[in-house]
Amino acid sequence: MTQLSFDAATAKALEKAYHKRDMIRRRRHVREALAARPGERILDVGCGPGFYARELLDEVGQGGSIVAVDASPDMLALARQRCAGHDNVTFGEGNAAALPVNDGAFDAALCVQVMEYVPDPVGALREMYRALRPGGRVLVWDIDWATVWWHSHDPGRMRRVLQAWDEHLVHPSLPRRLGADLRAAGFADVAVAGHSFATVSYDDESFAVAMLGMVADFVPGRNGVTGDEAAAWKAEQRQLAEQGEFFFEGTQFCFTAAKPN
Ligand SMILES: C[S@@+](CC[C@H](N)C(=O)[O-])C[C@H]1O[C@@H](n2cnc3c(N)ncnc32)[C@H](O)[C@@H]1O
Repeated sequence: MTQLSFDAATAKALEKAYHKRDMIRRRRHVREALAARPGERILDVGCGPGFYARELLDEVGQGGSIVAVDASPDMLALARQRCAGHDNVTFGEGNAAALPVNDGAFDAALCVQVMEYVPDPVGALREMYRALRPGGRVLVWDIDWATVWWHSHDPGRMRRVLQAWDEHLVHPSLPRRLGADLRAAGFADVAVAGHSFATVSYDDESFAVAMLGMVADFVPGRNGVTGDEAAAWKAEQRQLAEQGEFFFEGTQFCFTAAKPN
């Protein structure tokens, strides 16, 4: 079982997907929940192509700063490009399990759809805890992939494809344990909000359609799914759309908590 690799090809695919309407909506939810203020120092763990870093620069202003960390040099290259011309953002190659940052250096930290790829989430949450000042805020966003489902006339194939897709990460249903993990890491005031991306429209701007291509590219050769089957699985969704039968559901979870004073 080989996880999704965050290489140049994935970085390019995510860069494209993150311009879509549903991903813009997701960033709006994150920014509202994080509530960054002018002058704050923010840590972005697993910054990917740097969309959050760029948008948060506007919120913290010239008096604030962003430190963005990612394990993938390809992602960091895109993030650096996105934030070019700003001197109050720095990027570091590093692992969520051992963040290359000082103790107590941040007012808030975010980690959006990263923890589900990290083998030891409690260890990584402890790292974020260490990086925050007392009273600092944390936001962790992940998907429960067991909630992700496209309607199909071949539910057996759908199940096998989605089981194959589960191999793309370490924790397919991480949100179920994230509340406990945040508490185990020392955080208080743990809260969660669920955001459904359900749709009946085959819409290129949706999470539902953006995911079809990524899943179809990843699953061939896994869990008994062949290349032809993956292509047929994806094609069925367009046919269902033409018949007015398209339906997708998937819930993403936004956890917030604080480091006690
Ligand atoms: C799905 S992308 C999310 C990117 C970004 N947080 C966003 O939502 O726009 C996952 C990111 O996590 C990074 N990542 C995965 N495992 C990591 C780890 N152990 N430490 C640091 N970064 C990691 C990947 O390189 C990738 O950029």
